[in-house]
Amino acid sequence: MHTATEYARLGAPGSLADTDTPIAREAAAALMAVGRSRIPMPKPDAPRVMVVANQKGGVGKTTTAVNLAAALAVSGLRVLVIDLDPQGNASTALGIDHHAEIPSIYDVMIEEAPMGTVVQKVEGFETLWCVPATIDLAGSEIELVSLVAREARLRNAIEAHVKAEPYPYDYVLIDCPPSLGLLTVNALVGGDEVLIPIQCEYYALEGLSQLLKNIDLVRAHLNQDLAVSTILLTMYDARTRLAAQVAEEVRKYFGDTVLKTTVPRSVRISEAPSYGQTVMTYDPASSGALSYLEAAREIAERGAGSARRGIEEQA
Ligand SMILES: Nc1ncnc2c1ncn2[C@@H]1O[C@H](COP(=O)(O)OP(=O)(O)OP(=O)(O)O)[C@@H](O)[C@H]1O
Ligand SMILES: [Mg+2]
Repeated sequence: MHTATEYARLGAPGSLADTDTPIAREAAAALMAVGRSRIPMPKPDAPRVMVVANQKGGVGKTTTAVNLAAALAVSGLRVLVIDLDPQGNASTALGIDHHAEIPSIYDVMIEEAPMGTVVQKVEGFETLWCVPATIDLAGSEIELVSLVAREARLRNAIEAHVKAEPYPYDYVLIDCPPSLGLLTVNALVGGDEVLIPIQCEYYALEGLSQLLKNIDLVRAHLNQDLAVSTILLTMYDARTRLAAQVAEEVRKYFGDTVLKTTVPRSVRISEAPSYGQTVMTYDPASSGALSYLEAAREIAERGAGSARRGIEEQA
């Protein structure tokens, strides 16, 4: 009823207000998506640098990084995506040119180029930027080995560009490659929080202990403030018992770190990158877009909550 009223106010044909037809349901969903995206999300006091990591391939790291970034950006927050995967999938999904000659994260990591010189604006968004990755990055795991401060090169660049006041971004999302090599270590050393996407499949938890062990090592030696703040269940298929079982197991193990929102398996999500788009612009009313919007809101609100708790504890 509520959405029908809103729809009528926008001057839509009265017949669409009947939410029993598929078109009306879509219209109502679109309205909700647009409506909710207009409610501002809380802005953090300082930039939150979130590392999207899981060494398992194809679990939804890139999809999560770009769509969460887009969801935060459409809600008015300033967001930077750092593509740290030589595959350059995040750059592609954001419609950013990343052929070999384009200045990229490689120049930052290896040549010490200031990050500000390689940032590109993402088309279609007012407050979304991207540091692209090119194929050059593929050799960097080896090149990094012989460089000074090889684990801290990304952190140095982030401190100079992202953490310098006045803060240029509210959120920085780093899309990691599917490995635990030096690139991922650089992300873990440079980040504040880890976001682990977990695909709701049978082998979902396999390899996770290795990732957690590496995070512990980084915390012990290189970045004591790093926290696994967020786990997001992706490609959730509500029709299968397996997805529910995996979700239950993950929630039992990780508790409140797991977002309440799960991302459904959605054709629109998988189609969007081939148009150089996020699902937020490709189909803002789809279940995929709505779920990333909801996940972004949870992340933003949790962050605000923990910041408040910290302040209250200090008082
Ligand atoms: N919720 C979803 N619904 C349908 N398809 C999805 C969903 N999330 C991701 N995909 C698809 O699954 C594939 C893997 O996703 P993605 O590239 O995000 O994973 P990844 O963890 O970044 O992979 P890699 O380890 O290779 O970097 C892609 O084809 C993507 O379009
Ligand atoms: Mg990826």
